[in-house]
Amino acid sequence: MGRRKLVAGNWKMNGMKSHLAEIEAIGRIAAERPGVEVGIFLPATLIMAAAEGKGGAFIGAQDCHMNVNGAHTGCLSADMLAEAGAEYVIVGHSERREDQGESNADVAAKALAARTAGLKVILCVGESLDVRDAGNAEAVVCEQLLASLPEGAAADWLAIAYEPIWAIGTGRIPTMDAVASMHAALRAALASRIGAQESDAMRILYGGSMNGDNAAELMAIPDVDGGLVGGASLTAAKFGPVIAAAG
Ligand code: PGA
Repeated sequence: MGRRKLVAGNWKMNGMKSHLAEIEAIGRIAAERPGVEVGIFLPATLIMAAAEGKGGAFIGAQDCHMNVNGAHTGCLSADMLAEAGAEYVIVGHSERREDQGESNADVAAKALAARTAGLKVILCVGESLDVRDAGNAEAVVCEQLLASLPEGAAADWLAIAYEPIWAIGTGRIPTMDAVASMHAALRAALASRIGAQESDAMRILYGGSMNGDNAAELMAIPDVDGGLVGGASLTAAKFGPVIAAAG
């Protein structure tokens, strides 16, 4: 146990140079909370400039290619992102799994590429509303996790984010019991693959409509080790209370 909370802001396709002051303000809040690891996952165009004024936060990217280089127009390798100043990358976000048709195997390959480039990784999993309503959420999400898990998965470079797709950007969240049960199931699934010790050390974040009002309750659940936060991470005023809720 003793997992340090990780609070990650996912800016998605939001953010221009005019938002650098906001990023700096988040970095100052993060510097006041050394017990919490705070990251801002930005559009690639902002990473280099944001890395200059990141304060106590780290800067992350939202995706990377699984190859080091080559004929992949429009894509960015993990090495490129690391050189720009990213320390982490998100892989397997449901918006990419859906919009870009990324498979579990793609996600595992991207995670491994990121690791090879020296980046840390947040790997996302989560169920659709149909799956939740059918009562299969835990089985489906654990299966997705094991199929997306890269070789050599270890707590010092990989964190998991559980994000129910129906909770993303909707203002709806599962019950606290459902979150607790899912996170415990994910930790058990991890243990079956990487062993109990590594599984105990690995952070499992919750994501999907986390905000300053619900973050404290969510992060008080024993197996919830932080949050992946979209809308409520876009300003220091909204993100500050989420960071504070983590400790
Ligand atoms: P949300 O997004 O906080 O706006 O629901 C979370 C995410 O998609 O990572």
